[in-house]
Amino acid sequence: MRIAVFGAGYVGLVTGACFADLGHDVVVRDVVHDKIDMLRRGEVPIHEEGLQELLERNGERLRFTTDVTEAVEGTEVVYVAVGTPPTYSGDADLSAVWTVVDELPRLDRRIVVAMKSTVPVGTGRSVRHRLDERGLHNVGYVSNPEFTAEGAAVRDFMHPDRIVIGAFDPGDGDVVERLHAGIDAPVVRCDVASAEMIKLAANAALVTRISFINEIANVCEATGADVLTVAEGIGLDHRIGPSFLRAGIGFGGSCFPKDSLALKQLAANSGYNFQLLNAVIEVNELQKRRVIGKLERRLGSLRGKKVALLGLAFKPGTDDMREAPSLVLAGRLLAEGAHVSAWDPVADGRMHLDGVDVAESALGALEGADAAVVVTEWPELRELDWAEAGGRMRGAVVVDGRNLLDADEMRALGFTYEGVGRAVE
Ligand SMILES: NC(=O)c1ccc[n+]([C@@H]2O[C@H](COP(=O)([O-])OP(=O)(O)OC[C@H]3O[C@@H](n4cnc5c(N)ncnc54)[C@H](O)[C@@H]3O)[C@@H](O)[C@H]2O)c1
Repeated sequence: MRIAVFGAGYVGLVTGACFADLGHDVVVRDVVHDKIDMLRRGEVPIHEEGLQELLERNGERLRFTTDVTEAVEGTEVVYVAVGTPPTYSGDADLSAVWTVVDELPRLDRRIVVAMKSTVPVGTGRSVRHRLDERGLHNVGYVSNPEFTAEGAAVRDFMHPDRIVIGAFDPGDGDVVERLHAGIDAPVVRCDVASAEMIKLAANAALVTRISFINEIANVCEATGADVLTVAEGIGLDHRIGPSFLRAGIGFGGSCFPKDSLALKQLAANSGYNFQLLNAVIEVNELQKRRVIGKLERRLGSLRGKKVALLGLAFKPGTDDMREAPSLVLAGRLLAEGAHVSAWDPVADGRMHLDGVDVAESALGALEGADAAVVVTEWPELRELDWAEAGGRMRGAVVVDGRNLLDADEMRALGFTYEGVGRAVE
């Protein structure tokens, strides 16, 4: 089939490359000329495992353009994968979605618009209305939300837990389902509003688990229990399961924070106070800040102290720093008067971190540091020569925000080591 994908970001590029790999002809359209030029030259603007190979392998079935008419020419399905960032109010900013809807040209054949961007419940109905107002009655609308996780997006797209297709017209849903032929996964067919809610509810469930285990970790710290053992013990219960029970310094990224806020606002706008989600969000904000308290307990005032932030991306496997805990930590440390150095194997901290010394290597960031904070669980940090790191640092405090390192080994090397939800010495 012939597909157009609007948006060449983390989701759009993976969607385009994977559909091309499934044998479809794909045109990816973006409004940022530099991005399209890079892609035409064979360069990939983001770090996502397996994406480069997929784009190269399917070069014959993939084109890139900034032009709407070229993108939709001959297409059967138009995927919308543009950003829906949070506004100041916490509601999703749908302006890019509306731009796409308004840009669609009048065609003399039926096409289907498939929404991959994460949008509030009710957006599909509003888009349908707008299309009808524009006289585009032969443009169908399907909600086909995306559940891929950055860092594993290609694998997640090709081997999803489920494919959700919400349609006003079952025939349009059939078209989108046919596109996924070759992917072995349960298909949930439903109405548009339910598909939109499945996406928001799935993310809400995941962040609830994260804030839950983080609160358990905080109580472990206060009572002497060990959250790793506790997580293992509760995760073996088949009614609970082991995933998303890793305590840490909180969730970030381009989806979890904004989508939980958007669901909270959606509920509030509909007259409902989503108390559980309010608490989940607040716990997450406080969790990031607990690192500062841990550093202060070891170092006293942070004014003039040098703290190295190890890992800047919101999680390993991506260069994405949107809403990353590293940003909050850097801001708080600078506000306390600390000198902050940082390192990440792929994320470019220079673009986002004013006043922070971004080093070329982890050891470079640790040079002369009073304390190190493990912010992202990059394998490179587990494999770091910590004995050498200790020699480079001025102090010996390591706060491991992801429980990445072996506590006994770190203490044996002479570090004052503290994880999350673990015994403190
Ligand atoms: N990042 C993820 O892992 C992920 C996972 C699931 C769902 N989502 C959702 O998918 C959507 C996209 O997320 P993302 O991370 O890929 O965003 P992104 O910011 O990486 O990419 C969005 C792209 O859309 C482009 N764009 C803006 N207006 C456009 C237009 N009119 N026509 C064509 N392109 C246009 C932007 O230039 C940008 O390149 C969001 O709604 C997000 O919540 C993201």
